[in-house]
Amino acid sequence: MSFAIAPALAAMLRAARNVLVLTGAGVSAESGVPTFRDAQTGLWAQFDPLELATPRAFARNPRLVWDWYAWRRELLATVAPNAGHHALVAIERRVPRFLLATQNVDGLHAAAGSRALVELHGNLARVICSREHTLVSTWAEPADGMPPRCACGAWLRPDVVWFEENLPPQALAEAQRAAEECDLMLVAGTAAEVYPAAALPLAARRAGACVVEINPQPTPLSGDMDFVLRAPSGVALPALVAAAWP
Ligand code: OAD
Repeated sequence: MSFAIAPALAAMLRAARNVLVLTGAGVSAESGVPTFRDAQTGLWAQFDPLELATPRAFARNPRLVWDWYAWRRELLATVAPNAGHHALVAIERRVPRFLLATQNVDGLHAAAGSRALVELHGNLARVICSREHTLVSTWAEPADGMPPRCACGAWLRPDVVWFEENLPPQALAEAQRAAEECDLMLVAGTAAEVYPAAALPLAARRAGACVVEINPQPTPLSGDMDFVLRAPSGVALPALVAAAWP
């Protein structure tokens, strides 16, 4: 599938000195990773986030939460980066200053080769102590029907950010600084409903950047964008690279 890119946008990306990219679950959809909010196929259409993605849910039912993330982690063993992930690597190689801030916990940007990467919502490959939040080990099997424990006695948990929790402060600060300083921002595959990540595009726009949405569906941000590419990121991002650097 080919997709037409406005020449003005291609020229702007070619000239950009400082690019920030924000990605969400949609960027991994074409790799076969389910999104959260898409009707029918999104995880939150089938599962209740309050039962699975909050500290209280984990305290109430640690095994259920552990098993749900273990299932999602197992799904990742069978997937690979798609053309959208690879296109972002190509942009990083061509732009003097670049940062990719992702809300995804699937590790696919790193697997594609992205280097300047901050993971705002953690990474499903890692496990931390639920009490001290220290990185403990890789995943282990549950014992006696419960999640494995840290040496301190607390349950281990996936290193992902749950609702009601703060984002990793350094990752967030880096993304916020890039939003203030970039001249072009790409916002790909996010419903833009979860804060503070969803505030980054508007911060960039207020600071004078050109902001571009890549999403087959409208989002609350769409009306404030300078350009909107209504296509899957696996199509639109490679088209953008090809148009900027023919
Ligand atoms: P969502 O599932 O909320 O949104 C996915 C977005 O991707 C939607 O706007 C879709 O239209 C779009 N989309 C679907 N397929 C696409 C494709 N092929 N190319 C481009 N876009 C596509 O995912 P996020 O916005 O990432 O947090 O969700 C943000 C956070 O909410 C997640 O990190 C997660 C979730 O609850 C936690 O678990 C704490």
